[in-house]
Amino acid sequence: MLAVAVLAAGKGTRMKSSLPKVLQPLAGATLVERVLRSCGQLSPERCLLIVGHQAERVERSLAHHSGLDFVVQQPQLGTGHAVQQLLEPLAGFAGDLLVLNGDVPLLRGETLEHLLEQHRASGAAVTLLSARLADPSGYGRVFANDQGQVSGIVEHRDCSAEQRAHTLVNAGIYCFNWPKLAAVLPQLRSDNDQGELYLTDTVAMLQPAMHLEVGDAAEINGINDRIQLSQCEAVLQERLRRHWMAEGVTFIDPPSCTLSDDTRFGQDVVVEPQCHFRGSNVVGSGCRIGPGCLMENSKLGDNVQVVHSVLRDAQVGANSSVGPFAQLRPGTQLAAGCHVGNFVEIKNSTLAAGVKVNHLSYIGDADLGAGVNVGAGTITANYDGVHKHRTVVGAGSKTGANSVLVAPITLGDNVTVGAGSTLTKDVPSGALALGRARQLVREDWRGPT
Ligand code: UD1
Ligand code: MG
Repeated sequence: MLAVAVLAAGKGTRMKSSLPKVLQPLAGATLVERVLRSCGQLSPERCLLIVGHQAERVERSLAHHSGLDFVVQQPQLGTGHAVQQLLEPLAGFAGDLLVLNGDVPLLRGETLEHLLEQHRASGAAVTLLSARLADPSGYGRVFANDQGQVSGIVEHRDCSAEQRAHTLVNAGIYCFNWPKLAAVLPQLRSDNDQGELYLTDTVAMLQPAMHLEVGDAAEINGINDRIQLSQCEAVLQERLRRHWMAEGVTFIDPPSCTLSDDTRFGQDVVVEPQCHFRGSNVVGSGCRIGPGCLMENSKLGDNVQVVHSVLRDAQVGANSSVGPFAQLRPGTQLAAGCHVGNFVEIKNSTLAAGVKVNHLSYIGDADLGAGVNVGAGTITANYDGVHKHRTVVGAGSKTGANSVLVAPITLGDNVTVGAGSTLTKDVPSGALALGRARQLVREDWRGPT
């Protein structure tokens, strides 16, 4: 039987943020979400989240997670006090309790599985994860013998100068025999530099206590300030890029690009420098993206080219090209073989196959039929100051340069719109529409004398 408890009640004073620390984002997911993911594959019987500082906000952010029990710690008197709050909800529970600090987000699932296996095989009262760090400052120091048996943990601030030189640190991840832990939790005392109840003090009370040293020390990076947050972001980004390079994606300048967990690439994609992927994206095989793109919750078919552009909640069909300097806003759907060129903004619009919008246009709330050619500077005037209206343009139609289509308006198939026209009325298929002042030429003109 396994229960997992995540400590997420602290304020995170050192972050200097109005956001609770465990809600800080890391590669698009909050710290606490990442911690929960790291233990997902253990399939625990119970999963308890200890919340306190801005508890409601933390609970709300996890509303989509099923099977979480929230336990409130009020006030927050330290990590030992946090785990004391489990005495009631876990009364009678006879299994193991895995305790995870909510601010240690880079743990791999396999590492936790390994910890649990070792804990169960040795029959220890507690097994904790440790790491050897070149710079151990800030972490609790773990004192252990050569057999891995731990005598105690001393917090950085409570260490003597000699103890501070010790480089084996506590990751803040523990596997406890719950009945044994429950028996010693009430004995914790706050006679330390912070005047808090430390969970780490239970280790000296529980014997045998063992530690398991992680191979990759980056896994146990704890986040207490913005510097550590950025260091963890770098580790995570490196992991994501390496994963996708192994899957057949070329990054021309990997460190200049950032990815999200939920971005998927096909084979032979080339990502040029300074490209950023956020949220949930799909990039088809053979695409070339960048330099300089931002893609958020968007989907590209195969062999799409995107240069210096921003795509949000947009879909682009195969063999299309976007940019340079285009913006595809939410609700943009391009079918296959579309071309969207420089200084073009598209929002909430569908473009059928082969549509070209090559220069200086705004297309909003519009449906453009197959093969439509939108002339340079064409604008859909979709907003009357109160409501938005749709523009519909039939297949094969062409708009001349600098046309304004005042919505609601429907142009049939194969319509030609003369350059500089402002159209306010529907146009039937096959017609030429002109909506501009006639040109006046005065040959007898004499300028001011
Ligand atoms: C803790 C460990 C330290 C370890 C380090 C690893 C203790 C006393 N020290 O120190 O040995 O090296 O983690 O990162 O445990 N929390 C609560 N309630 C509280 C206080 C904290 O839920 O009353 C939560 C926080 O939200 C956080 C976690 O516990 O997610 C750890 O707290 P934090 O203050 O960051 O402890 P550290 O000083 O990092
Ligand atoms: Mg911490």
